[in-house]
Amino acid sequence: MTWLPTAGSIVHLRRAGVSVLVDARGPGQPVVLHWGTDLGELNQGELAALARGLVPAVPNAVTDDPLPRGLIPEGSLGYRGRPGLSGQRSGADFAPQLQLATIELEGGSADFLLTDETAGLAVRSCWRLADSGVLQVHQELTNIGAAAYQLAELAVILPVPAQAEEVMDFTGRWCRERAPQRRPFAFGSWTRENRRGRTGADSAFVMIAGSAGFANRHGQVWAVHLGWSGDQVTWAEAHPDGTRVLGAAELLTPGEIELAAGQSYRTPSVFAAHSAAGLDGVSDRFHAYLRARPSHPQSARPAVLNTWEAVYFDHDLARLTRLADQAAEMGIERFVLDDGWFGGRRDDTSSLGDWDVSPEVWPDGLEPLVSHVVGLGLQFGLWFEPEMINVDSELYRAHPDWVLGPPGRLPPSARHQQVLDVANPDAFDHLFGKIDGLVKKYRISFLKWDHNRDLINAVHDGRPGVHAQTLAVYRLIDELKKANDGLEIESCSSGGARVDLGILARTDRVWASDCNDALERQHIQRWTGLLLPPELIGAHVGPPTAHTTGRTQSLSFRAATALFGHFGVEWDISSASAAERDALTEVITLYRRLRPMLHSGTVVNVDHPDPAATVSGVVAPDRSTALFSYAQLTTGVTEGPVPMRFSGLDPDRSYRVTVLDPAGGTGRIQRREPAWISDGEVTLPGRVLHEVGLALPVLQPEQAVLVELTADPAPTTGATAS
Ligand code: DGJ
Repeated sequence: MTWLPTAGSIVHLRRAGVSVLVDARGPGQPVVLHWGTDLGELNQGELAALARGLVPAVPNAVTDDPLPRGLIPEGSLGYRGRPGLSGQRSGADFAPQLQLATIELEGGSADFLLTDETAGLAVRSCWRLADSGVLQVHQELTNIGAAAYQLAELAVILPVPAQAEEVMDFTGRWCRERAPQRRPFAFGSWTRENRRGRTGADSAFVMIAGSAGFANRHGQVWAVHLGWSGDQVTWAEAHPDGTRVLGAAELLTPGEIELAAGQSYRTPSVFAAHSAAGLDGVSDRFHAYLRARPSHPQSARPAVLNTWEAVYFDHDLARLTRLADQAAEMGIERFVLDDGWFGGRRDDTSSLGDWDVSPEVWPDGLEPLVSHVVGLGLQFGLWFEPEMINVDSELYRAHPDWVLGPPGRLPPSARHQQVLDVANPDAFDHLFGKIDGLVKKYRISFLKWDHNRDLINAVHDGRPGVHAQTLAVYRLIDELKKANDGLEIESCSSGGARVDLGILARTDRVWASDCNDALERQHIQRWTGLLLPPELIGAHVGPPTAHTTGRTQSLSFRAATALFGHFGVEWDISSASAAERDALTEVITLYRRLRPMLHSGTVVNVDHPDPAATVSGVVAPDRSTALFSYAQLTTGVTEGPVPMRFSGLDPDRSYRVTVLDPAGGTGRIQRREPAWISDGEVTLPGRVLHEVGLALPVLQPEQAVLVELTADPAPTTGATAS
């Protein structure tokens, strides 16, 4: 570790093709000179020359000296954008002027300590460039003054260059999470604020600035994601002085954070990734970052059967045991009992908070079901919605004051429920005791942790309470995990409304959406996968007619879609025909064969020219095998599909290409198959498959073809890069 008293150098962090250059020669704030492509080894002389080379002209009608844009851009020096730090001390100290005090350097990390003794504020800004090239930044503000300081916002703000001409981020709703939107990077601010008290189906998710026309596999892109499950703000800002930034912060309600003398506030982490190879390059970095975490799930992701769309609230031991038997016969490895097992919960109007097994429906407790499931060799998982309470519940009748809201007033109800004040120590202990007790009693290895409403008018201890609630929930999960070795948790929130790296620091997968319609899932999973690798994205085969859209789809399409996530089934398989159950068994066998590759490989989204279809896949880390999907989303304009090209393969190796059809019945509308499919296979070098591709069957809409590629052991010759 190196300590540099009052700085004196330009810090150059370099990892995995990324450079972050910070001019920390002081005495003012460090300035980011570059975040992007690796600039190679540069000595201090060259770095100083670069810094000098970037000192701009002073135009008319502005400050006499060029505007320094520090790590925490400051209005006190003339920064005109959304400032890095805002707050006040009863009207004073609203415009601090931070000075660099020390830098701490270690490996790919640099911590900058900035202070303004006069304003009584100190900020530690912590930058870590991980081996994946993901830049992780968080900051901590300490009130070093005598009086209380009211914090409004402490943001992480990263500069992007003028080549970033377009901005992309996400919106959405229940059953249509993470829908992309795109626009020119125009002057002014494009600001996404979320005041739902949870991440939200419409969260900005990842905000991206990129070169004109950036796409899946080309263009320069800079991406930021805020790892936080409460209120948040993310923005892209362009100023007439040429400044372009991406910023992100926890969105605080006035009065939410007041720091007494000596108290600190820590921001959530911002995760930032640059890629010179389009969106897939960003995903490569995020996926590598997540997979390198010690907490990343290491065991094979078990094939799941979730009971929700199979039985809803109709819990019946005989019916569920039969379901478990059939699931086990098909190769399912984890059985998850969803909502409806506790208190008087026969529909969604009551009993949240009453985390005792319903004596009415389960007179012998869950033990008969659990022993049956475990006896079949399956893991047992259980649904909870810990942060919620129904007014119609024993818990509410005993503790009406545990509702998160203003004293004496209930916030508007949503799904008939209120939010529990988890930051209340008594409520926290109650939840921990109930959940921990059940996990131990029933050998539960998996919790589906749901959260089905926004926080509205959240008041904790007389103050806005989203911040405290979010941290309390994180702590509750952390403590449950600590007390129950190997316990896995899924983050679910009205489907996929809590998908962020804050919750994922302590959970093991997300439920991407309540929509199991495979067509919708093609989009939802593609974009959830921008941040998360497939093994973290719950993806289930639903019933033939999707409950949320009414569309009927082949098992082949539903299976081909679910195979590219953490696979499961959410369908009353007792109502399926014997042929459907056989086909599903084939699919589960295939999933179990391919998951080591699917859950460690590189995700590829081909830039396919026909908007009626998508081509995507996963390539093994050593590029020896791959699985690709061609998904016909809607009818195309051409008589047959244009060839499917394969990116990410080894250009120098030959691949044997075969079509997999585990579920059968992929709907075609043609008179003859492409020749190579009739032949059963074709073998071609990776570079040919990349440049030219292969002909496809004429598919009906909402059908997919799965293609497996296996490389010959020996490389071919005469290769060029692809
Ligand atoms: C919402 C979830 O997203 C569903 O999967 C299901 O668990 C229900 N809640 C249960 O109430």
